[in-house]
Amino acid sequence: MEIVVSGIRSTGQLHLGNYFGAVKNFVRMQQEHQCYFFIANYHALTTHPNPQDLRASVRQVLVEYLACGINPEQAMVYLQSDIREIPELYMLLNMHAYLGELEKVASFKDKVRKQPNNVNAGLLTYPVLMTADVLIHKATKVPVGKDQEQHLEMARNFVNRFNHFYGVDVFPEPYPFNFGEALVKVPGLDGSGKMGKSEGGGNAIYLSEDPASIHKKIMRAVTDTGPTEPNSPVSEPIANLFSLLKLVSPPDTLVHYEAAYADCSIRYGDLKKQLSADVLSFLAPLQERIKEIDSNEAYIQKVMREGAEKASISAAATLKEVRQIMGF
Ligand code: TYM
Repeated sequence: MEIVVSGIRSTGQLHLGNYFGAVKNFVRMQQEHQCYFFIANYHALTTHPNPQDLRASVRQVLVEYLACGINPEQAMVYLQSDIREIPELYMLLNMHAYLGELEKVASFKDKVRKQPNNVNAGLLTYPVLMTADVLIHKATKVPVGKDQEQHLEMARNFVNRFNHFYGVDVFPEPYPFNFGEALVKVPGLDGSGKMGKSEGGGNAIYLSEDPASIHKKIMRAVTDTGPTEPNSPVSEPIANLFSLLKLVSPPDTLVHYEAAYADCSIRYGDLKKQLSADVLSFLAPLQERIKEIDSNEAYIQKVMREGAEKASISAAATLKEVRQIMGF
């Protein structure tokens, strides 16, 4: 049995990228390993949400975690901000994190481009906080999507630097994990890149989104002018729609549309209608469970309280050890 840690920023609702890149694997891992799944509400602060929105998003993500099948009897489910040891470990690790390496992180450079008026120190040290989340429980496996690969590579650098500097073997190296398969990158609807909340309005499909709104978004997804000769190469927007079909539709559906593309008989309108119908039937039972759990405030409170209590035990043990090693 290995130790697993993973988290999701509480920046609103979960989308299909979060689900297929991460949460689906949480559900599978909790049966085999000691799992810590948390809501990264400190990480969410880098974009300055107002306090009411932050509170509502945290609750929403927790409800959606549970609706997706994360079982608090099997896994520890908690809020990052409930584990006091995490920010302390983050502060300690920051002493061994260098400006040069932090400035080179792709997600940081991306934020500098996208939000030039809010390049705060929390953004810069984002990978250090993420490392603290993982190391506080000495996890070795981290189920995440492809976009988090570089952050985990940094986490391994911090581990090795710390162990080497203090001449200890206190932290194991954490690796991204996807059951032996390549890490997932779920595409968005805008024709390029990943599905993500920060990629702009119509790009992401949310688990709790109203069916009419999902249908509209999918019907508006970016396409191209269509194949002009048999077996022409598939452009990125169309490959993205095929990738989404692959996630939510029965295998023959994908085969059917790929064949229609290859022989130029494809009609993108039909493809989108099919994708919309399959996304909606995939989400329908999930949306039911979200509603059910959402109405049970006592249960939500209990999960948060008990998760924090349980996750604090290993966090306290790790921090005690680290403080001793560092000379406190
Ligand atoms: P976040 O909140 O951006 O995303 C949460 C998880 O969803 C995955 N994901 C995707 N996977 C595939 N395709 C996509 N389009 C897609 N969009 C999102 C992400 O890979 C991630 O697994 N820094 C993290 C949160 C975090 C964390 C941690 C994760 C904080 N501390 C410690 C693991 C361990 C983040 O911002 O993820």
